[in-house]
Parts: sequence; C-alpha cells; structure tokens
Amino acid sequence: MCGIVGYVGNRPVVDILLDGLEQLEYRGYDSSGVALKLEDEIKVYKAEGKLINLRNTLKPHISEIMSSTMGIGHIRWATHGAPTLLNAHPHTCNCGNLVLVHNGIIENYKELREKLSAKGCVFRSQTDTEAVAHLVASKYAETKDLTEAVRLAAQEIEGAYALCVMHNDYKNTLVVTKRNAPLLVGIGEGEFYVASDVPAIIKHTKKALYLNDNQIATLTPDKMLLIDKDGVEVPQKIELLPWEPVALSKMGYKHFMLKEIHEQPDVIRNILVGKLHAPDEPIILNEVKLNKDTLKNLNRIQIIACGTSLHAAMVGKYLIESFCGIAVDVEASSEYIYRKTVTDAHTLVIGVSQSGETADTLTAIKQAKAKGSHILIITNRPDSAMAREADSLVPVNAGIEVSVAATKSYTAQLMAFYLLALYMAEIKGSVENSTMTSLKEEMMLLPQKIDQILANTDDVQKCARAFANTKDFIYIARGINFPTALEGALKLKEISYINATGYPAGELKHGPIAMLDETMPVLSILMKGSVYEKLLSNSEEAKARNARMIALTNSSDAKLVDLFEHILYVPDVQELFSPLIAIVPLQLLAYYIAEFLGKDVDQPRNLAKSVTVE
Ligand code: M6R
Repeated sequence: MCGIVGYVGNRPVVDILLDGLEQLEYRGYDSSGVALKLEDEIKVYKAEGKLINLRNTLKPHISEIMSSTMGIGHIRWATHGAPTLLNAHPHTCNCGNLVLVHNGIIENYKELREKLSAKGCVFRSQTDTEAVAHLVASKYAETKDLTEAVRLAAQEIEGAYALCVMHNDYKNTLVVTKRNAPLLVGIGEGEFYVASDVPAIIKHTKKALYLNDNQIATLTPDKMLLIDKDGVEVPQKIELLPWEPVALSKMGYKHFMLKEIHEQPDVIRNILVGKLHAPDEPIILNEVKLNKDTLKNLNRIQIIACGTSLHAAMVGKYLIESFCGIAVDVEASSEYIYRKTVTDAHTLVIGVSQSGETADTLTAIKQAKAKGSHILIITNRPDSAMAREADSLVPVNAGIEVSVAATKSYTAQLMAFYLLALYMAEIKGSVENSTMTSLKEEMMLLPQKIDQILANTDDVQKCARAFANTKDFIYIARGINFPTALEGALKLKEISYINATGYPAGELKHGPIAMLDETMPVLSILMKGSVYEKLLSNSEEAKARNARMIALTNSSDAKLVDLFEHILYVPDVQELFSPLIAIVPLQLLAYYIAEFLGKDVDQPRNLAKSVTVE
C-alpha cells in the first residue's frame, strides 16, 4: 500500500505535498514524511502515526521551508519493518543527497542489502525501500545522471514499486518510475505533480499521464522526458481525468462510515437510473461488451475479488446461477494467482473491486486476460488500473468511499450483480416474464426499504450496547445470506477488533457448536424464504447450548420472541434480494459497537483502504 506524492514547479511545495498526502491517507496511516529541496540541501521531516503528526512536526520549521518548490512525500502502511520513525519514508542514501519515496514491495531487498552493505552502505532502517535508496545512489555515483541511475537501478529490482526520486545536485528535477504499482503524473503550467492516485492532484490539474510499467519520467518545471527501460524516448499519452475535485465532508455525521451507510438508498437509486426504467422494460447494460450470442452460450464464469468485494461476488454467484443457470466459481484473488487455474477464452472472468487497485485482484485479472478470457470489471473507480484492463467495465458509482470499512460500495456491487444477472437472464430467456417483472418491481423498491431501516436505528443501538463487551461473535445464515454472515462478521472485526466469524448454519454442528455457551452471541440472519425453517432449527440448536441469540429477520413469526434475546426487524423482501436489506443493520451494529468502544471507526488499526501489495 502506501501513497506517494511529488511536486516540481514554482509554487511553495509544503502545502501541496501535505494536502496530497491527506487525500491518500486511505492508503495507510502508520507514518508519513516529506523531503524538501532547499537552497543547498534536502531536508527530511517524518512523523509516526497519522498525518496530523507530520503537520505538527513541520509547524516550527515553516518559515525555513516555505521557499521550497520541489519535494516528495509519503504516507506509509508498514510492510517491512515496524511502523516507527526510523522506518518512515522518505529514505536517503548515506550522504543524504539522494532521497526517495516508494510504494510497493521490493522482493529481492535482502540480496540487495547484502550486496550494498558489502560495498560500504550502512543501513539504518528495516525497510525494503532503503536498499533502493542505496542502490540508486550507487548507480548515480557511477553515472552522475539521476535518470540513468534510476533506470539502471530499476533493472536490478524485483517486485512492485512506484518510486519518486530527487537528488541534491538537481535544483528542480524529479525522476519517477513504476512497476506493478500505480503512479500518475499531473501536468500543470510550468509544474508537475506526482501521485499514487488522482485525489492527490485533482485540485490542481485534470491533465495527467498514467505511467506504464518500466517507464521512467524525468520532470523539470517546463518539461517531461519519458523513456522506456532501454532508455528510448516514448510518446506521452496524456489524458483528461474524468474527475471533479470533491470536498470530502462528514455532512454532520460523526464518522464517514455512518454517513456512507446512510448514503446507500441514494446510491441504489442512482445505479438504477438509466438501467431500469420500469418493471416491464428490459434492463439496459450497455457496459457489457460481450455479444449476445456469446452471452447466451456461456457455460462458465469465474469471479475474483478480495474482502468485502469477495462477499459481493459470492452473492453474485448465487444470483447468476439462480437466474441464468450458468456455473459460477468464486475465488479469493490471492488464492487464484498461485495455482493452476482452469481459465480459458470461453470463460467470462469478472473482477470485483471497490478501488480497482487491489494488487491480488489486478494480478489475477491480468493472468486471466493473458489466457484470452473476456474481462468484466465491477468497480467504484472507472479510472483505476483494473478498469484499464477491462473488456467490459461496469462502474458502480457509489461515490468516494472514505471509511476503510466498505459499506455503500458493497451494496452498490450487489446492485451491479442484480442488474448483470437479470440482464443476462433476459438475453438467455431463462426467467419467465411474469417472474422477471416481479423481480424488477422488487428491485425498484429496495431504496425505500433501506430508508425505512435507517429511519430508526434504536434497536440496533440497543443491541450494540448489550454486546459491545463481548469477545467473540458468531453470525449464521444459509443460502444467499451466507455471504451476508461473512460480511457482517468482517465489518465487526475490522472496526471493533472483536473476533467475529460467519458460518453456514448447517456447518455449526460439524465443529463450531463446541464453542457455544452462555457468553457467546449467535446472530441468525433469518430471512423468509427457502431456508427459513432450516435456519430456525439451527438457531434452536444454538439456543439449546445456551448461546445468546440475536435474530435479524423480516418474519413476524411469534415463536421468535421466545427463541431470541434481541430481534432486529427489517422490511419484508423477496428472498433473492434479502442480502441487500439484511446487510444494513449488520453494518450499523458493527458501527455502533465500535463507536461505543471508542474505536477509530474510519481508520481502524493495521488496515488501509486500498491494498496495493500482494
Ligand atoms: O478495493 P477492493 O474492493 O478490491 O478491496 C478489497 C478489500 O481490501 C476490502 O473489501 C476490505 O476487505 C474492506 N476493508 C472491507 O471493509
């Protein structure tokens, strides 16, 4: 993960770097740092923890550093070495003249470290990055040319990197390069910006160049030189970023997560606009570029994703198999990439990712693409690396999601799967017309049902207070809501650090039931439909072992009151749409427990919003 920024131009650089880093804080918040070129030296400032600590560190030096017009900055999510000041970026060579920031993982850093130590380099941190600083410095000592030094060093590095480098010999030059990590150069008037992601630069410019792997850009205020790994100049593909600067505001909510949970009805309404006009009209999904005959004859789909997106994918499998009768495999990207997968030109591969940058998913879809599969990407970031790999791009348009815990992007991904599955079913003719109409009617009612849940959260808050001090939590469900159990548990563990696990309820008796006693809460996602009675029996079994029972239900079944200590009611909904309704109280439950415990809801420990390392 980590985020990097850079600037070379004629304006004071400090605020540009700090504002840019603030926009990238979703990528990590273990430490941050900047390096600033002053008249005869480069000054480096670092701080542990969140960016505010770096701002405070810089305050006493402001008059001294305001004149600087070139600098680089970094926000860290620790991979190699603890999140300490010593390991914070920027890293320097031993004389301090060469300074760089890095996002990614240098896989051969141990070998480089040994080689460079033998040459006399003294290592001060435990990071993989420091090896690169010494390596580029050693190449610079030989070549006296910063671009050439970076180019030669890059050839000896294995792994993933985005690098932004400066040297004290250069008054106004930054050199950047990348491989398997995002990096873009923003183009202003007599100035260049460097960033891991668009939000860091969009306030300043909409003109940008996305660096391709192994390209090296040398930036001076009035010129960019772009070369490939052999040193040959290459054409510059400049793009206009389809973004408007957005002021990220909590709009009166205490946390972004709560605001984002409350945005869900509108997100769903927006997704439906232009795609479904009326229950008796066909779904419009022009984003799907597979021709209709190919779609009709598809017999295999693979969906690849991580985390919350993986849970949306699991619901997607259920939907596509139910509506279209096409076999779907779902796999965690990190598993997919290290085995011999049976993917070929006849397989439709769907990648799901909020950020569109998750390293494991990106690698997986590149592998599938190389095997000739059609790649369909469902993402909240149509400008992302994954979107650039897509043959079909289905944006979910949830708007920027700031909180590390995904909420509105999850429901938006579910909506994308509803639309996709029904769109494919219409082409295949696999769902009867009357059923199709009733499904579409239900789909159009979803936003107001979620509005209803959000209008009164008293019961959820009461339940949160009752269980906030528990150590463990079990979520059970069956069928299409098994992924809801996984997602509810993930939400709780990532923001409250309570050990929460989702189980298919039928599996309880094959082991997990041994954990049940009077201290264990078991939350049963008891939505009406094909598995309601079965789940009710599983809930009875848990109750018989004295577990503290909670129900999330749309049933008015009177016997629930005896079985469950707490009941969270949701509006009635057809079973196939129930994951979209059931997840909302679970997001709220996780939120209110974490809030009650005083946790850092939007930026939980050890996590980052965008996971750009494998
Ligand atoms: O950006 P992506 O959807 O690819 O991210 C995948 C996971 O890292 C992400 O869903 C993560 O699990 C969230 N923090 C969950 O809330």
